[in-house]
Parts: sequence; C-alpha cells; structure tokens
Amino acid sequence: MARNIDGTEISRVMRAEMAQQVADLQAQGVTPGLSVVLVGNNPASQAYVSSKTRACETLGMKGQTLHLPEDVSTEDLFAAIDRLNADASVHGILVQLPLPAHLPYKAVLEHIHPDKDVDGFHPRNAGLAFVGDPRAFVPCTPAGILEMLRREDIPTRGKHVVIVGRSLIVSKPLASLLMAPGPDATVTITHRHTPDLASFTRQADILIVAVGKQNLITADMVKPGVVVIDVGQNRVEDPGSPRGYRMVGDVDFDAVSQVAQAITPVPGGVGPMTITMLLANTIQSARQALQ
Ligand code: GUN
Repeated sequence: MARNIDGTEISRVMRAEMAQQVADLQAQGVTPGLSVVLVGNNPASQAYVSSKTRACETLGMKGQTLHLPEDVSTEDLFAAIDRLNADASVHGILVQLPLPAHLPYKAVLEHIHPDKDVDGFHPRNAGLAFVGDPRAFVPCTPAGILEMLRREDIPTRGKHVVIVGRSLIVSKPLASLLMAPGPDATVTITHRHTPDLASFTRQADILIVAVGKQNLITADMVKPGVVVIDVGQNRVEDPGSPRGYRMVGDVDFDAVSQVAQAITPVPGGVGPMTITMLLANTIQSARQALQ
C-alpha cells in the first residue's frame, strides 16, 4: 500500500519557515504584496484565487484581488496590469488562467513586468529558467513538485521520470528543472498524440500526470514501486458532499495506491504546494526589490 505524500503538511512546515522571512522583511519596512487579477466568474478560478490571497494573509503578507468583468477589453486589462507594474507595494502579479477566449493570454502574460512575474510565465523568466539562471521566477507547480520530492527524500538522480502532459504551466518547465544538474533525472514527456501511452508510463520510476482527465492513469499502467505525482484537479458531481461536487486527480487513486510506493492525494497533494511556492516567489520578489 502506497505512502501518502501529504502536501498540506509539507506546506505547513514551509509556511512556518516563510512567516519568519516575512517578519524579517517587515522589520526592514517591506510587506511582501501579491496582486491576483481575476477576469470573469469561473467558479474554479474564484476558488483558487481566494485560497491564494488568504494564504498570503496568514503569513502576514498583503494579498489583494483585482476582479475584472468577463467582457473586459484587452486595453483595459493592460491598463490594470500597468498600474500594478508601477505600484511599489505590489511585488507579485498573477493573472489567473484560463482567461476568456477574446483575450490574448500570451500578450497578457508578457505585459506583466518580469520582475513581478511570480508565476514565471513571462518569456524572460521562462528563458532564464531554461538556461538555469537563479534570477528566474520558477513556475509554482513545478517548483512545488521538486520541493515535495526533496522533502520526502525521494531521489531523482538517475531515475526515469515520465511526465504526462506538455503544458507551459507544468510539464515544460518541470522537464527542464528535473533534467538539470542537481535533480539529474532522465525525463520523458508524453502527450495526447503519444501512441501506446501505457508503454511509457510503465517505465516510470516517478510518474507525473498533469492532464486534467479523471482516471487517465489506471493500475495496469504503472510499475510496482513507482512514485506517483498527480497534478490533476477535476470536479466530479457528488450530490452527497456539501458543495455538490468533489475534486479528483488524473490517477485512479485507490487502485494505483495498491501498486505504488508513494502517491500524492487530490486534494491535499500538489495543490497546497503550488500556493506555497507562489508565496515563496512573492517573498523572493520583495527581497529583490530591497536590493
Ligand atoms: N491556472 C491554473 N494554474 C495556474 C497557475 O499556476 N497560475 C495562473 N496564473 N493560473 C493558473
């Protein structure tokens, strides 16, 4: 039976360490501030955004949400980002994705000043991270997964990490981080056009799944003793639960737990780590602004 990798508990330990860093910055007259831009009324995005700003406040940081209407124009969104770029009390800016289809999300992400791009999605930060420059803001989910593996003493050197998914937010930066000196993993990326996915996933010492499809990974698709990191966040109807739905990942958790060595649950695995790394990036940005 697999060991559960408890992202909530790892986050609790990390956030306690970070509260001290925030207190040290406050003693120097700086309160790290994060502004989250939310466009429209997607309920999942609203829930993620409020957990991000609430997490800021529990550490003594400033977290604010700028809520813009679904039909906001590109110009008005750019103007709002310009104001945050110019505001010295804002150290981190995050535009919650996905954006409504009429907005050019790549241009929007490029509009955030790279020094405040705590998501790490601006091409300057993506490029710095790709060449291994420590000044880069590293995207929060990949950074959280690496931190989780490190704190759980799960070695990556010489291991075969198979990633399912090829997103800008998770898979591409994660592959680059894992193959770098230090982690030293051998990385395979698979995606929707990979034939015979199971022939790849069965080779994984560490399997990372970031697709957004419930039960994509079943027990017959993994090798005994694998470590499974489930990045999926899927809502399933559940009339018995208080909200009428519950969250599940991309992995058939109960069946894969019978075969794996360790596995992250959903919720309570990768999700809290992502928010923790967002707070860490905002603290890093506040520190850099002091220099
Ligand atoms: N939507 C889902 N994950 C993320 C993330 O890490 N950052 C932003 N900005 N939007 C997201």
